[in-house]
Amino acid sequence: MSRCKLIAGNWKMNQTASQAGTLIQALKAEFPACNSCCSQGPDVLVFPPFTSIAAVLQEAGTCLQVGAQNVHWASSGAYTGEISTAMLKELGVSYVLIGHSERRQYFGESDETVNRRLHAALKAGLKAVVCIGETEQERQLGLTNCVLEHQLRWGLNQVSATDMQQVVIAYEPVWAIGTGKTASNADAQAAHAFIRSLLGTLYGQSCAEAVRILYGGSMNAGNAAGLLAQPDIDGGLIGGASLKPADFASIIRAAKQ
Ligand code: PGA
Repeated sequence: MSRCKLIAGNWKMNQTASQAGTLIQALKAEFPACNSCCSQGPDVLVFPPFTSIAAVLQEAGTCLQVGAQNVHWASSGAYTGEISTAMLKELGVSYVLIGHSERRQYFGESDETVNRRLHAALKAGLKAVVCIGETEQERQLGLTNCVLEHQLRWGLNQVSATDMQQVVIAYEPVWAIGTGKTASNADAQAAHAFIRSLLGTLYGQSCAEAVRILYGGSMNAGNAAGLLAQPDIDGGLIGGASLKPADFASIIRAAKQ
């Protein structure tokens, strides 16, 4: 089955609203005809900080899709510092990022909170990119598949096969994020194939074949083509390189080939 590739930029805690507008203008200048179109692909998505979402939406037009870096499970209430699905939907956000390893590492995110956020997003009609990945130590101990299976099973707990049409999985080995160390094409492909086979067990073959699985972790203009050529790698979740218009555009072009 051919899956339309998805190139997503995770800006993390970078770019004020005015900087974000300038960054999108520069990105548009790099690829003027970037409208997502499956026959040519790829879909392009960015996750700005909450405060820059409106500026990005205004500048982007139909050029790319915009997501938020997190979402809370409650519809409203006493949750200082959190953001609701309704707040994001009213802005025009179409995706949310859930369970990024920095959220897990620094903010106590667990598979249970990932799952709660995911259910809230899906119920609100938002698409979700759910991140999973092993640490360096877990890889060295041979626990990679075990960790991926645990995070996937609990993160997707009680999510239906129909809802999986709105879910993208991002495989992000923690040791590769922001470090300049990238998983080899073969190691990344092996992890993606494992994730797809597990999705097959959980949801059946046709659902598993339709779910997009992104690679994240120091993907850049130099290594993108090799990673994106792997049969189970359907795109990238890109941090550092997504803040550099020429590099991000080059990754997008690599996904077209
Ligand atoms: P990186 O970040 O590309 O800077 O490694 C990826 C991510 O955190 O999603």
